[in-house]
Amino acid sequence: MSFKKVVIVGGGVLGTQIGLMSAYTGHDTTFWLRSEGSIGRTQSKVDQYSAAMLADLEGAKKLIGNPMGAFLYPHGMIRTWEGITAEKIDELSAQAEQNFAEHVHLELDLAKALADADIIIEAMAENPEAKIEMYEKMKDVMSEDSILCTNSSTLLPSTFAEHTGRPEKYCALHFANTIWKNNTAEVMGHPGTDPAVYEKVVAFADEINMVPLQLHKEQPGYILNSMLVPFLSAAQGLWADEVADPETIDLTWRLATGAPKGPFEILDIVGLTTAYNINQMKPEAQTEGTLINKIGKMLKEKIDKGETGVTAGKGFYDYN
Ligand SMILES: NC(=O)c1ccc[n+]([C@@H]2O[C@H](COP(=O)([O-])OP(=O)(O)OC[C@H]3O[C@@H](n4cnc5c(N)ncnc54)[C@H](O)[C@@H]3O)[C@@H](O)[C@H]2O)c1
Repeated sequence: MSFKKVVIVGGGVLGTQIGLMSAYTGHDTTFWLRSEGSIGRTQSKVDQYSAAMLADLEGAKKLIGNPMGAFLYPHGMIRTWEGITAEKIDELSAQAEQNFAEHVHLELDLAKALADADIIIEAMAENPEAKIEMYEKMKDVMSEDSILCTNSSTLLPSTFAEHTGRPEKYCALHFANTIWKNNTAEVMGHPGTDPAVYEKVVAFADEINMVPLQLHKEQPGYILNSMLVPFLSAAQGLWADEVADPETIDLTWRLATGAPKGPFEILDIVGLTTAYNINQMKPEAQTEGTLINKIGKMLKEKIDKGETGVTAGKGFYDYN
């Protein structure tokens, strides 16, 4: 293992998941948290996500011998499915419990948390001003060799590079929600990122059981969202224009492409609130009579009824 100490700044949804994958793969992992109150909130997420990871590991036993097993197993938790046995899964679970107990640390003191870190991953809320303020605070206490990454979904690393005090050691490392199953890690530098640092970040992603996906230049939305957002918008356009209903649109996509899920099933997982926020960022959203404006109204109507997706039990589909 070339990365000994990993630090996560921000113990929210994604930060917790990234930190747990780091601990799962045997790395000493410190979460830096800003207040006493954050400790309880992050600890409960650590408990919740580590339990979900262990449950998925246990559940993978049922997939052994199933021809779909190779597609459905939690890819971040089991590096190779070929030759997997229930005994090997038990060994992974026992190791995981030990690693979670020994390698996860919560720390309020910023200097202590960051000291001698090999890699620091910033997973704070998507607020550019708060991120800049944080980088400015960190730059005086970070060890010289520490690599710094941002998990930002929508902001480009070049926006922040100069505020980090180490632009050449800074890039984006972007994970997907439920990273222990959906183990993509998009690696995106800015023009000033040292290529050797970029390669180290690629190696780190692999070390924590992610599949590193390398971008050769900055791209808002990375690879995945550059494709997914327009695809989901096109589906919402067909729905709002009353061309077809969500079930038929999903069926068309699944039958014609062999994909396991259609756009509205994906929207239910992403959450309708996120879909609404993305839609409302488009300039036409404010113009009465446009399709984008109508999509906004139709999504808002569902959100107001509490139909925000899978986690609410209902979105475009009923999960109750
Ligand atoms: N949620 C996702 O599906 C997802 C996926 C990929 C990337 N991301 C990115 O990850 C980052 C975090 O997203 P999340 O979903 O985990 O958010 P979240 O709201 O769950 O967590 C944000 C964390 O940042 C902390 N924080 C907020 N402001 C702070 C400040 N001023 N100082 C210190 N800490 C502060 C909060 O206490 C919280 O722990 C964002 O940049 C987001 O774009 C999110």
